[in-house]
Amino acid sequence: MQRNYLKFKTGNSQIRLLQDTWHSVYQNSYDEGLKFLIKGLNLPIHSIDDVVEKIEKKIPIQYILEKWSFYEGEYHINENVLIPRPETEILVDYIVNKFKDKKSVLDLGTGSGCIAIELSKKLQTANITGVDLSAKAVKLAKKNNAQTENCVNFFTSNWFSNVNQKYDLIVSNPPYISKNSSLDESLKFEPMIALFSENQGLADLSKIITDSINYLQEYGVLMLEHGIGQENYLREKMIKEGFKKIELIKDLKDINRFIIGYR
Ligand SMILES: C[S@@+](CC[C@H](N)C(=O)[O-])C[C@H]1O[C@@H](n2cnc3c(N)ncnc32)[C@H](O)[C@@H]1O
Repeated sequence: MQRNYLKFKTGNSQIRLLQDTWHSVYQNSYDEGLKFLIKGLNLPIHSIDDVVEKIEKKIPIQYILEKWSFYEGEYHINENVLIPRPETEILVDYIVNKFKDKKSVLDLGTGSGCIAIELSKKLQTANITGVDLSAKAVKLAKKNNAQTENCVNFFTSNWFSNVNQKYDLIVSNPPYISKNSSLDESLKFEPMIALFSENQGLADLSKIITDSINYLQEYGVLMLEHGIGQENYLREKMIKEGFKKIELIKDLKDINRFIIGYR
């Protein structure tokens, strides 16, 4: 492919270059991605050759654009954080509709901060905290925090290691893919720490359930996103740890994806 991209000065010729590159990599599949990319880039740009290289490497458009929409916000995204997923918007929506009265919320494994920040916009009188093991993720979450007046308190923590108060609601979308599963090509640019967990993907979910009981107020709620088929194990685990009522919630594909436990 021709590499002297600087000669493409106009927006239209850059669009043609992106289309040609895109179709040589993805053929005619995933044209939706191309549309998002062209819309998000604000062409013409000087760095068009970088974008072409990234398409050729199959880097996800969210990392090329370095931003992505989630719920009602737009988020700075980089290779240190998971790309926010549409199913996680269901978790936010559920909390906004059912748990609006909660006054303190902890988001464990906050990544870009998308769950915590969207909740802080809707639960305006709540104190919201977001923690992550990755200092680079926390740095990005703090940058994303500028979009809300009810700012989230972000800090690094290995799950509860630096948490020293109790909350009305604890929410988490932790890593839950089994370390033994083969890596889907679309995931290879996302941070391993955001994706994989020991014990068939259940180790971090289990730890959060066990420890949460000590960090929830009386009648507090734990809501977790989980992987396909993990709900029975998690329900048993919640019962064993003393949660009184448990609910399962489905995702957009009608698959059990979230579990809620009431203390
Ligand atoms: C699936 S990502 C979720 C990111 C974000 N909450 C979202 O929904 O888009 C899981 C996050 O958990 C963080 N994480 C993994 N292990 C952790 C640990 N031991 N303590 C705290 N955070 C952890 C990862 O860095 C990652 O940001």
